[in-house]
Amino acid sequence: MSDNPRTSDTGSMRIPAADPGTQAMHQVGLKPPGSAMVVFDHVSKRYVEGDHVSVGMDDVNLRIDKGEFVFVVGHSGSGKSTFIRLMLKESDPDQGKIMVGGRSLSTLKASKVPLLRRNIGCVFQDFKLLPNRSVFENIAYAMQVTGASKQEIRRRVPQIIHLVGLSEKVDRFPDELSGGEQQRVSIARAFINRPPLLIADEPTGNLDPETSLGIMDLLLRINREGGTTVIVATHDTGIVDRLRKRVIQLEGGRLVRDQARGGYDDTVAQEIGLDRTGTTSQFPAVSAHVPGTTGVFPAITPQQLQDTTDPTDGPEGI
Ligand SMILES: Nc1ncnc2c1ncn2[C@@H]1O[C@H](COP(=O)(O)OP(=O)(O)O)[C@@H](O)[C@H]1O
Ligand SMILES: [Mg+2]
Repeated sequence: MSDNPRTSDTGSMRIPAADPGTQAMHQVGLKPPGSAMVVFDHVSKRYVEGDHVSVGMDDVNLRIDKGEFVFVVGHSGSGKSTFIRLMLKESDPDQGKIMVGGRSLSTLKASKVPLLRRNIGCVFQDFKLLPNRSVFENIAYAMQVTGASKQEIRRRVPQIIHLVGLSEKVDRFPDELSGGEQQRVSIARAFINRPPLLIADEPTGNLDPETSLGIMDLLLRINREGGTTVIVATHDTGIVDRLRKRVIQLEGGRLVRDQARGGYDDTVAQEIGLDRTGTTSQFPAVSAHVPGTTGVFPAITPQQLQDTTDPTDGPEGI
């Protein structure tokens, strides 16, 4: 894996390549799909409550390829969360076809849905952390449910905590963290199993603009350096406009704009206070000793930090 994952040249910890999820994907019958990660084919979804009908999704067609970073924007009620719930098979469309990871969700057996979701990291506006568990335990829990060994958990959790810049707060509980820090824990938890697809629903909805930028920066790094496909629903147009990524806009459940933006170039990075590689000072440089791990977890060496890819990993995610 010498040429993958890509490294930043700032000395920051590099983000491990997305686990291609080969094993889990094959278990659910998800096949390497060519380059499409998500396909919506004439998808409609209505919510009927008595006499009242709300449009969640109205004849939406789109395709998101592996490795893309996509913003989904739109006013409240435009269908962003519906779009996300459909991808997770938390609800089913009335019409149309949805493919995730090359597999049709309509033919995915109910018993395989948990495995589908395990391949999709999720981040929400309200963080959804377990209140009585520490930062470490919140993240470790996401590995435990996949049956990871204690040794593997002890190895990987401190690495991801370091990645999100919370090594000093590993033993804190959620109510002892700021909103931005809680969201970093939630991103670490979503990414710890290295899903090929990461979805965030209004991840900065409860955060101030500067903190929001740090969160988006983390998601961008996960995409750029980890190769993970990232889909972010947000109404934070300020950030969206600055980051120049693909933007899908919904209005009343209809797709009204699908705009490929220019790359994330150096000028933009400088404008918004990120350096050339998109990292900020919030990402600690790798050192032989990881602060916050003393006496609790073993310190990690830079070499160990880079050794985060399973030998079974393929080169490019699912
Ligand atoms: N579970 C639900 N039951 C009834 N209506 C719903 C439900 N979820 C969403 N809707 C309606 O569907 C539309 C789209 O909602 P949603 O997808 O949550 O939009 P957004 O995330 O962009 O705010 C809205 O009119 C909303 O009221
Ligand atoms: Mg929503």
